[in-house]
This record gives sequence, C-alpha cells and structure tokens, in this order.
Amino acid sequence: MTSTAEIPAFPMTRAAGCPFDPPPVARALQEEAPLARVRLWDDSTPWLVTRYAEQRALLADPRVSADITRPGYPSPAPLPKGGTGIGFILMDNPEHARLRKMVTAPFTIRRVAAMRPAVQKIVDDLIDELLAGPNPVDLVEAFALPVPSLVICELLGVPYADHDFFQENSKVIIRRDARPEERAAGHQALIGYLDELMGEKLARPAGDLLSGLAARVEAGELTRAEAAQMGVLLLIAGHETTANMIALGTLALLEHPDQLALLRDGDSDGDNPGLVASAVEELLRYLNITHNGRRRVALEDIEIAGRVIRAGEGLIMANDIANRDPAVFPDGDRLDLSRDSHRHVAFGFGVHQCLGQPLARLELQVVYSTLYRRIPTLALATDVEKISFKHDGSVYGVYELPVTWS
Ligand code: HEM
Repeated sequence: MTSTAEIPAFPMTRAAGCPFDPPPVARALQEEAPLARVRLWDDSTPWLVTRYAEQRALLADPRVSADITRPGYPSPAPLPKGGTGIGFILMDNPEHARLRKMVTAPFTIRRVAAMRPAVQKIVDDLIDELLAGPNPVDLVEAFALPVPSLVICELLGVPYADHDFFQENSKVIIRRDARPEERAAGHQALIGYLDELMGEKLARPAGDLLSGLAARVEAGELTRAEAAQMGVLLLIAGHETTANMIALGTLALLEHPDQLALLRDGDSDGDNPGLVASAVEELLRYLNITHNGRRRVALEDIEIAGRVIRAGEGLIMANDIANRDPAVFPDGDRLDLSRDSHRHVAFGFGVHQCLGQPLARLELQVVYSTLYRRIPTLALATDVEKISFKHDGSVYGVYELPVTWS
C-alpha cells in the first residue's frame, strides 16, 4: 500500500519546455492504473481518475456529485465564506437540471449557427484594428480576449464597455492561488453587477438572454439571486475559456508550422469547413485548457476498475490526460489536425457537459479559419521560453502572446 508520504501532490508540474503536454507524473500514474491517490493543498487524498473510459463512466454516474459543499469534495482551493455561488455547474440534479434548462435554448446548434455572420464580423473588425495598430502587439489583449467577450456580451445583453471590470474579476475568481477573501470579493462584485443589470432588464426588457431570465424572475420561476448567479456563470464561462483557446491554440499552431500550413492552405478561400472543424476538435483535445480536472465526490460506494471508491471520497477526472489516453487517441502527444478527435473530453462529459460548446466551437472555427489566412505572416515576437503560462489557474493558457507580422 502507498504511504501518505508517497502520494503525489496535485496539481502537478509540467515538464520544463513542454507547455502543451500534461505533467509527466500524471502520465506515469495513467500508465500504472486507472485510479491513483493524490494529495491536495488541504492534505486530503482524493482519487485521480487517469483514464478515458473510467472518467466517462464516473462522469455519467448519478452516484457521483458535483456539489462543492459536500464533505469530501476535492476543492481546488479553500472555499470562500458564504460559498462560491457559481451557479448550477456545482449543483446536482434535479436543481442543476431545473436551472440549466432555463438557458439551453440560446446555446442550441441551430441558434448558435445563426450567430455566425455576427461572430465573423467581430473577428474581421478586430483583425482590421490589429493590422492598423502597433506591431508587435499582445494578441491576448488585442484579439483573444475581445472576441469571446464581445460575443458573450451580445448574447447576454451585458454592455461591452464594462469589459475591464468583468474580465479582471473573472481572472481573480479562477486563479487557484487567489486568497479566499479575494475570490469572494471578485465574486461579490460580479453578483452585484449582474443583479443591477437584472434590475435594468426587468424595467426595460430587450431580446437578450438576461432579459429572458428577468421574465422568468417576473413569472416566479426563478429568484433574482439565482438569475444573477446564472449570469455570472455564463459571463465567466463564456469569455475566459474561449479566450485561452484562441491564444494558446495560436501559440500551438505557430510552434507546429506544418499543422498551421495545413490549416491555412487547406482553407485558403475559407471553403473547407470540414478541415477547420476537425482542427478545432484536435486543438481542444491536445490543449485541454481545463487542466485541473473535473471535480466530484462519491455519494455511494462505487466499484470500478477492480477497486471500490467509498461514499464521501473525492474524485478528480483528469481530462487532460484522458485526452492523451493511448487506448483512445493513438500517438496522442502529436498535434495532428487531420485526426478524428471528436470523442475528446475537453468539454467534459455527462450532465455537466459544457453548455456553451456550440458557441465555443463556432467562435474557434471562425477565428482559426480567419486569423492565419488574413495574417499569413503571423509570428511570435518573443522566444517561447519567455512566455508566461497560466499554471496557477483553473483554465490554462498564456498571460500574453506578443506577435508580429510583415
Ligand atoms: C473552448 C471553450 C470552452 C471549454 C474548453 C469549456 C469547458 C467546459 C467544461 C470542461 C465543462 C464541464 C464542467 C464540469 O463537468 O465540471 C464546462 C461546463 C460549462 N460551460 Fe464550458 N467551456 C468552454 C466554453 C464555454 C462557453 C463559450 C460557454 C458559454 C456561456 C460555456 C458555458 C458553460 C456552462 C454554463 C457550463 C456548466 C454546465 C453544467 O454544469 O451543466 N462554456 N465547460
């Protein structure tokens, strides 16, 4: 049996010079067994679920809870007093389903597809501004953050003029090393902001998602506090994740020029949606930006892979290494845009599978099919060793991406 001292700490460190690859210790655990104990910041020792098949089985299992307030839940950091209040992502059914159902319609594939021209315009306008502005430039500030922020603001009915405010507070909330008081303050600021907006939507409803929630508040289907909480979840999830995929995806492509050429040249007239769609899936698989795993706690004893997970034990589904599991993705450490990667778990699995995935896919398809075609000489304006990576957050990416073009 492994002694406590031998249980590896989680999260683990990536190998120097390998910013796109999961930590070697996690890979070694995956090779050894589908389940392994890891040690968290509070000395608790939940299970790390290392392999694809077991992760999907457990994420689909109703005996597994996403409720962060339950004893044994492997929280990534100390909980702020008064809870995280981050909405239905950390709740179980039936409460989770009741709330999620209220916001599924705007994220259906059909509704999202209708947004393509608007998203294309946002991307084109930002590239026009980029080309007219300073060179080199930080792609994160000038492009990767504005694209999804503009899109989610439009969808929700949040004024984009407030982007500095909501981007700053979102950053604090998802920083693992932020103090609990800092995270609570960031969260309170966003809740207050969304509550105020809800007041405006109640007074002057428009055609946006928040107005839809306001109508439900008026109809007594939802409390105003629940509506504000959902607004916060959608606002954070809607911009931070996609922004990191845009910047980190661009860096990965610049570091794999053969793959970048395949994408740019294969879609030279913007006429190869199949190639672009498969490139998006492969980059999602390869980069898996939610690199701290899907966190859960067992509600009952569960037998899996020859072991018994006891009721009350924590589970961390390490979806970054599941997306490199050789049983599902042979030669998975290779970025290969022509690979069929659609079975990846970068959007999670089960009832909490990403609600915004059609929107994220659309934004990434538009970006990846436009940016490198319109700026074919796009290049890094610094050494990759000098780039600072977001090892400290629940979403992986780069803080800045200085780029240039000729
Ligand atoms: C590339 C971009 C994105 C990635 C990689 C991503 C990833 C994920 C993952 C892994 C989960 C599952 C969480 C869990 O099981 O614990 C999730 C849930 C969620 N995502 Fe995304 N996401 C992205 C973009 C978006 C966008 C654009 C939105 C739009 C608002 C969004 C909204 C949500 C929501 C609301 C949930 C909670 C679903 C639930 O609990 O039922 N995400 N996302």
